Order: sequence, then structure tokens, then C-alpha cells
Amino acid sequence: MSDGHSLDRIALAALNAAEMAAIAALAHVGRGDKIAADQAAVDAMRKGLNAIPMKGRIVIGEGERDEAPMLYIGEEVGTGEGPEIDIALDPLEGTSLTAGGKPDAMVLLALAERGGLLHAPDTYMDKIMVGPGLPEGVIDLDKSPYDNIISVARAKGVDPTELTVWVLERERHDHIVKDVHRAGARVRLIPDGDVAAIVGIADPDSAGDLYIGRGGAPEGALAASVLRAMGGQMEGRLHFRTDDERERAKKTGVTDLDRKYSGAELASKDVIFIATGVTSGFLLKGVEIKDGVASTESLLLSSANGMRRVIETRRKLGS
Ligand code: FBP
Repeated sequence: MSDGHSLDRIALAALNAAEMAAIAALAHVGRGDKIAADQAAVDAMRKGLNAIPMKGRIVIGEGERDEAPMLYIGEEVGTGEGPEIDIALDPLEGTSLTAGGKPDAMVLLALAERGGLLHAPDTYMDKIMVGPGLPEGVIDLDKSPYDNIISVARAKGVDPTELTVWVLERERHDHIVKDVHRAGARVRLIPDGDVAAIVGIADPDSAGDLYIGRGGAPEGALAASVLRAMGGQMEGRLHFRTDDERERAKKTGVTDLDRKYSGAELASKDVIFIATGVTSGFLLKGVEIKDGVASTESLLLSSANGMRRVIETRRKLGS
């Protein structure tokens, strides 16, 4: 039986796994091979997770067993002793960012008590999110971006021109950008990495007000973990491009394919969320290695006590 405290007890070991994954990915920054970068992060992350005293189970990972050799959905990790923990991870969020030497690549990891995270299939998800302090129901995925912007502006007591909406820069989002401009708000286009954007929006000091758009479903559940810890609201609905994707979703236990999930349904129990920078970005510093010492910067959130830590670690390599 696990509780928020058992999560806190393994947080440091989980942080270690994320840091090791980030250090492993560094060797691939700017080298044009996103698959090799991802593999390096996966290998290091798995080694780190297997050292944690827990009965861990991957619920969001690198794909399904037949297509992912490691950290596949359903894979068991940890020493096999200790609390039962469900794990959502993206060992390298921003594989293209890493391969291109661009900012904001990071390692992502969320741990919850068993059953605390949706088993999200590796499909797309339509998502809308806002930060904390707004009335319940202020956003609605079934309404247009324009209507949502007006609703959030009213709830904040500001003019829509004062709002900034974060959107992944994709052609499929052109209609969202048009709506943002029609409402008079600003758009902040991001090349990749929507979970970092969610952290930005949930941070009361940031310039972000809303996130709208279609991105990875696994990233949706990771974003829900962030909001559970930092506050904020989210809605998401799986988006399928093929019948095969629908079948895969059913296999992960999704019964209603059209269901609109709230953030609380995607991350339904206490979580620990960890992000470690690979390349420097607006959220975190990237890994640096100097004189055989690796420096990493990580964000560690715990929903049980609302804790938020930024952790800088230095470790001698090879020791
Ligand atoms: P990777 O880690 O696989 O590179 O994904 C990065 C990302 O930008 C996610 O943050 C986002 O949810 C998704 O890709 C968007 O997918 P697509 O690039 O297909 O539009």
C-alpha cells in the first residue's frame, strides 16, 4: 500500500534516474540523430529506475511491448520491493530539439500511487490548460479557442489583449492562431515540448495564460501531473488518426474513445513530477560537463504537499 509519503521517500532516487538520463542524452545534442539520443536517455533512465526500491509499473512510456524494447507500457521496473508505483515517463521530451541542438529538451518522469495515472496510448490528444486560481469550468475543450480566451480574460478580470496563448507551431493549429489574434490576445508559438509550456503556464510568475492544441497523449498525462502539483485546470480528449490507433487505445483499457478527460481524471492520485534539463531553455538549465563533473538542473514537484524544488546537482562522472 503506498501513500504520498512513500512517493516522497523514492523521489530522490527518481531524480537520480532523470539526471542520469539527461547526462546520457547530452552526448547526442546537436548530432542530428534523435533516435540515438532517445535510446541513450531510455537506457540510463531504465538503469536508474531499476535501482529504486519499488514495485514500479510503466503506464506511459516508449510505446507498447512489441514496438519498444525498453520502458514499454506494462514493463515492470524497480527492485520489486516497496510501494506499488505507476510511472509515466518521456525519457527525452524533445528528441528533435536535442538532435538539432535547440533549447528546451528535457527528461520527464511522473510517479504516482498505483492507479493514479491514466494509461494513455501513444496517440494524439486535444488539450486545453490554464494555470491556478481560476474558477472551475473556465475552460471547455468543446468551445472554440476564441470563446475560451474570452472566458479566461473575464475570469482574470483583464482584457483579452493581455493574455498570451501557447500553441505548438504546427499547420494543424493555424485555426487556433487565427482565433487568438481575433480575440486580440498574443500567441507564443513553441517548436516542440508542450509539457514545458504547461509548467510555464502553471507558474503564476510566467507570461503564459492558456495552452491550446493537439499534441502527444502521453505528454497530456504528464501535463496533468504538473497541474495536480502546481494547480490549474485541463481538459483532454484522445485523437486517433487510424483504426489501428483506436485498437491500441482499447488495448490500454480505454473504453470510451470520445471521452473528454479532466486533469483530475488523467492524474487522479498524488504524484511526484520531475523534469531535468538536457538543453538549456526557458524552464531549466541544460546539462554541463566540465573537468569530469556533470551539472544538472531539475524541477521536482510533489502534489501531496505542494512542494516545488529546483535542484542543482553536481556529480563526478565515472564514480
Ligand atoms: P518528442 O519528444 O517525441 O520529440 O515530442 C515532442 C513533442 O513536441 C511533444 O511535446 C508534443 O506533444 C508532440 O511532440 C507533438 O507531436 P508532433 O511533433 O507530431 O506534432
